[in-house]
Amino acid sequence: MENKVILITGGAGFIGSHVVRRFVNRYSNYKIVNLDKLTYAGNLENLKDVEDKTNYIFEKGDITDLEFINQLFEKYQFYGVIHLAAESHVDRSISNPLEFVLTNVVGTVNLLNAAKTIWKGNFENKIFYHVSTDEVYGELGDDGKFLETTPYDPNSPYSASKASSDHFVRAYHHTFKLPVKISNCSNNYGSHHFPEKLIPLMINNILQNKALPVYGKGENVRDWLFVEDHARAIDVIFHQGKVGETYNIGGNNEWKNIDLVKFLCQLMDKKLNRQEGDSEKLISYVTDRAGHDFRYAIDASKLTNNLGWEPSVTFEQGLEKTVDWYLANQDWLEHVTSGAYKNYYQNMYSNR
Ligand code: NAD
Ligand code: TYD
Repeated sequence: MENKVILITGGAGFIGSHVVRRFVNRYSNYKIVNLDKLTYAGNLENLKDVEDKTNYIFEKGDITDLEFINQLFEKYQFYGVIHLAAESHVDRSISNPLEFVLTNVVGTVNLLNAAKTIWKGNFENKIFYHVSTDEVYGELGDDGKFLETTPYDPNSPYSASKASSDHFVRAYHHTFKLPVKISNCSNNYGSHHFPEKLIPLMINNILQNKALPVYGKGENVRDWLFVEDHARAIDVIFHQGKVGETYNIGGNNEWKNIDLVKFLCQLMDKKLNRQEGDSEKLISYVTDRAGHDFRYAIDASKLTNNLGWEPSVTFEQGLEKTVDWYLANQDWLEHVTSGAYKNYYQNMYSNR
């Protein structure tokens, strides 16, 4: 495992930055190349603590750019790829589906092609690891959980694009024997999460004393996993997972949105020395998301039984760490919400 070069795509984003940090700090024998386009969701501030490490390199670029990707693969002769770059927000995919097809589908196939070409059929010890979502399985009713064998049934343009990319990854394995691994993870939360997603958006709005927009009746259910536990699962699967296999990753931690928002309000009231119940008064029920999936829940027993992975923190611990990080890093929040975010927020929420 000496001096192997690993490409991590989307490393300036939320989950990607945690994966880059983990790999740079743990594996001094790897060179980590972080490729990111730095869209609104990508932020090099997320990686300040590792940017000077000698085993870390940043490359700005677009995964849909064929020539650039081929040159990058030529230049570094990657041993492994961990692919996280994506458009990741369901609401944006409803406003602009094509962007999701380009980055998530075309971008992924572009990377698969580059890996196949540069590795020239010599796939021994090579890994192409594709990071995906549980949303590809569609929605659940009140019971049951997603297994790796659950048929794909994506409902949003986001999940349809991720499902499509997963299918291409599997097809490259089946047809060309490319050594792939896939994981499908539930909703993540933690530090450096862009405040368009539920938890950081609510934290930001509570801080600003702004309305807390809960879609529909707030009864939709998500299964929340602390982002550092996801990064650790990716590490375990990258090193020990079987080629050609899919692994589900989840927190075994289901929350109705409204219960989660109320729980967060209570925690924030304590942290901000506000009166109990103050933040909850900001809750505002707004028009539901179109096609809103009712419930997601992951059965991660394959990963636990085969590779020994389990979540390391409870939701209470993880959420407290998360809130503490946002309180200590309000300048980060200010930076990411100062520019285009204002327009985004206005467009997305003013007519709900
Ligand atoms: P994110 O939106 O925070 O980050 C995405 C990153 O990809 C950004 O840094 C962005 O600049 C980069 N990027 C976007 N388009 C690009 C392009 N064309 N070329 C190069 N870089 C580009 O997303 P995230 O929440 O960190 O998710 C990362 C991955 O994990 C995604 O593939 C997502 O589908 C998957 N995932 C996310 C969750 C979750 O809860 N957030 C859960 C399961 C799986
Ligand atoms: P989100 O964080 O966008 O993740 P996903 O849709 O990929 O699961 O949303 C999580 C849940 O919170 C989802 O059921 C939609 C809901 N939600 C709100 O109620 N209000 C909001 O402002 C946002 C962004 C999400």
